[in-house]
Amino acid sequence: MTGKPLALNKIHRMDAIEGLKRIPDASVDLIVTDPPYNIASKNRSTMQSGKIVSTMQAWGAWDHFHPFDYDILIMSVISQCYRILKPGGALYMFTAREQNGFFIRQAVARGFVYRNQLTMVKKNPLPSFSKSNWRSGFETSMYLTVGKPKTFNFVSQAECKNVFAYANSHRQTKHPTEKPLDLIKLIVRVSSNENDLVVDPFMGSGTTAVACKALGRTFLGFELEPEYIKMANERLKGGGRNGRKRKNQ
Ligand SMILES: C[S@@+](CC[C@H](N)C(=O)[O-])C[C@H]1O[C@@H](n2cnc3c(N)ncnc32)[C@H](O)[C@@H]1O
Repeated sequence: MTGKPLALNKIHRMDAIEGLKRIPDASVDLIVTDPPYNIASKNRSTMQSGKIVSTMQAWGAWDHFHPFDYDILIMSVISQCYRILKPGGALYMFTAREQNGFFIRQAVARGFVYRNQLTMVKKNPLPSFSKSNWRSGFETSMYLTVGKPKTFNFVSQAECKNVFAYANSHRQTKHPTEKPLDLIKLIVRVSSNENDLVVDPFMGSGTTAVACKALGRTFLGFELEPEYIKMANERLKGGGRNGRKRKNQ
């Protein structure tokens, strides 16, 4: 750990690695994070505000790295997460499907126990614009712990299934990759207890922070883009809505 301790219940405008280095060893109960996937491209399409645009236009430069730089970033994040988690603490990290197995092996090599993968099935995936490949209908998160998990609040057989269905209408902000709040809340509820410290080094629109606030957990997070921090702070102030109504809650 380097530097002064950081204020809690705050999203700091800071690089993820620089922020993680400021957190003391074995001090965190849970990490839930959704880093860049490194899939932004001029040749891949997505939908934004009803228009077909390239994923590079939609997600911007923050999701575009040389593959070697990307591996170094994620492996550094995994190493820092292992250092800051308490014994029995858990890391949930979303990654692109094609990267998942590689990063799980890297995490296990650094000492993590691989426990499961969560799959988020999209009820209404985007159509295939080129009709030259399968539609993208799911995303995954790895679930890893430091030794035996110290917290696993089994909610119910139905909710603790590793497949989670969601509709795209979950969005509360204009962040292009906002995660479904219901799923993040479920992870936080299952793998932490009230007042526990939960870290998200890539906060985006603040979904992890909003889940923690709603469930009485302490949060700490990092994000580079001021406009996303603003969105997150508005959600935190307004109880998580940021002016958009949810259809599925
Ligand atoms: C996939 S998004 C996270 C979305 C978030 N889960 C949500 O629900 O809104 C990844 C975020 O990481 C931020 N980011 C990219 N590189 C970063 C870095 N080095 N340090 C901190 N944040 C970074 C991006 O600006 C982006 O908002």
